[in-house]
Amino acid sequence: MAIERLDKVLANLGYGTRKEVKALVKSKVVEVDGVVAKSSDMKLDPEVSVITVDGEEVRYRKYIYLMMNKPDGVVSATYDKFDETVVDLLYDEDAVFSPFPVGRLDKDTVGLLLLTNDGDLNHRLISPKYKVDKVYYAEIDKPVDEKDVAAFERGITLQDDGYKCLPAKLEILKATEDGSEVKVTIVEGKFHQVKRMFEARGKKVVYLRRIEFGGLHLDEELEEGEYRELTDEELKVLRGEKLQNESL
Ligand code: URA
Repeated sequence: MAIERLDKVLANLGYGTRKEVKALVKSKVVEVDGVVAKSSDMKLDPEVSVITVDGEEVRYRKYIYLMMNKPDGVVSATYDKFDETVVDLLYDEDAVFSPFPVGRLDKDTVGLLLLTNDGDLNHRLISPKYKVDKVYYAEIDKPVDEKDVAAFERGITLQDDGYKCLPAKLEILKATEDGSEVKVTIVEGKFHQVKRMFEARGKKVVYLRRIEFGGLHLDEELEEGEYRELTDEELKVLRGEKLQNESL
């Protein structure tokens, strides 16, 4: 595996700047494989060596995988001039890995958002080639009917740019004169896609929550704005190593 400098490894894991890590090592509280580290530039394989700081074992990892229940009013970006971002909601110990959102949800869309610093997995999940399922619960301002279901199944043509969407699954949960509740499954991730699909049917999305992504279900225990790390099983599902119904 990759050989790295001790100070770089610890700094990347959030133990401070390189300078601060150097001071830690100098104060003799850092051990590598049971031996006090003499120098912060010592080389080691962080996946093999056991590092401890103040007697506490350092949990080494390169990648971080988070599931967030994105709240309303927060943008899916790492930086924004005006608005709070999903990355602003992370604790320092997670932010230190520099995770970024996998795809985007609109500022007013809530629900399942993944964040990671694993570029390969991100690519696999957002590439149109892999047709990853995204499932949304939506509230619509008008009654949704079987004609809409058929139109989604045929592929909606968006009004503004004429793009013909891939077939999507629309399930009606409740439909009244005052509005409807639906579940929509799409395999693409065009800008404002669900809203624009309903717009093409003369209807407006008034509430949108993503409930599934790539076979993962939004953890109902997470309040809006909360997040947690993915389990190993969830990661396998995302990587396509395990079918979702095998475990989840
Ligand atoms: N479709 C939308 O219109 N908005 C989202 O945030 C996600 C899908």
